[in-house]
Amino acid sequence: MRVKIVGSAAGGGFPQWNCNFHLSRAARKGVSTVRPRTQSSLAASANGTDWILFNASPDIREQIAATPELQPSESGPLRSSPISAVILTNADVDHIAGLLSLRERERFVIYATGRVLAVLEKNAIFNVIDPALVERRELAINRVSPVLNWRREPTGITVEAFPVPAKIALFLEDETKADSGFGTEEGDTIGLKITSETGGVALFYIPGCAHIDKGLKARLRQAPCLLFDGTVYTDDEMITSGVGFKTGKRMGHLHISGPDGSMASLADLAIRRNIYVHINNTNPILDEQSPEAAAVRQNGWEIGYDGMEIQL
Ligand code: MLT
Ligand code: MN
Repeated sequence: MRVKIVGSAAGGGFPQWNCNFHLSRAARKGVSTVRPRTQSSLAASANGTDWILFNASPDIREQIAATPELQPSESGPLRSSPISAVILTNADVDHIAGLLSLRERERFVIYATGRVLAVLEKNAIFNVIDPALVERRELAINRVSPVLNWRREPTGITVEAFPVPAKIALFLEDETKADSGFGTEEGDTIGLKITSETGGVALFYIPGCAHIDKGLKARLRQAPCLLFDGTVYTDDEMITSGVGFKTGKRMGHLHISGPDGSMASLADLAIRRNIYVHINNTNPILDEQSPEAAAVRQNGWEIGYDGMEIQL
């Protein structure tokens, strides 16, 4: 199975259009240790012809332009795409808005939980991806599902969706339910175990996660490879950076550092390869020369970047 990180930044991307924090400024200036990053997305293929996209980011057009595997093959029909399916892990803007750029009457399949499919259903703008051509298939929780293309042929990839502690999409938050997750329900955010049908090793993709509970730990023990939520390094990072008022917790993202952060919480699980993705523009690990980036590397984590290829 071939896997490529298509976009490694969180919502807003890096640099973010209106961000004047020193990291975004450095990325804009072309500082070599501070790479620009597009918004959260991953691609995988088991057979080299069907590519599965995990999340469709607002940067998808630019991401396809930067990823030859996602472009029409030179010998292909006049209109074609190797993107056989798009699988959504939640309904956040950074994960669904890119669907609107895939609207040229090309056939593919959208897989998501019932909760996320209902968001597409309720927002009429998504009808530009004509459901008669682009079938929307419900992804069952805690079941291994083969990913089939629009002809219902196997793509060679299987996924198992599992719920992770997280938050409903920002634009769907119900303020009257602030004490109970702003209306979050199971299926609003999932993690995915991605494998090739011929067996082999599994990749866990969890770009959004609010905390690590026992169930998640059990699932991830000895995992061959984990791509995990690296939104913020410290919980109050947006506040201390002076760019916002929300904690990571409030946004549904577990911070990286400290005794209750993801690095410490996942340390004893003997995961073979750990990679942070969905990195926010305030996160100091975006500067490869920062002490925080060094600490992450010392703890055995890699820092995901656009175009990073993972061979499994
Ligand atoms: C998130 O990951 O929290 C969201 O993508 C934030 C957003 O909608 O911008
Ligand atoms: Mn996001």
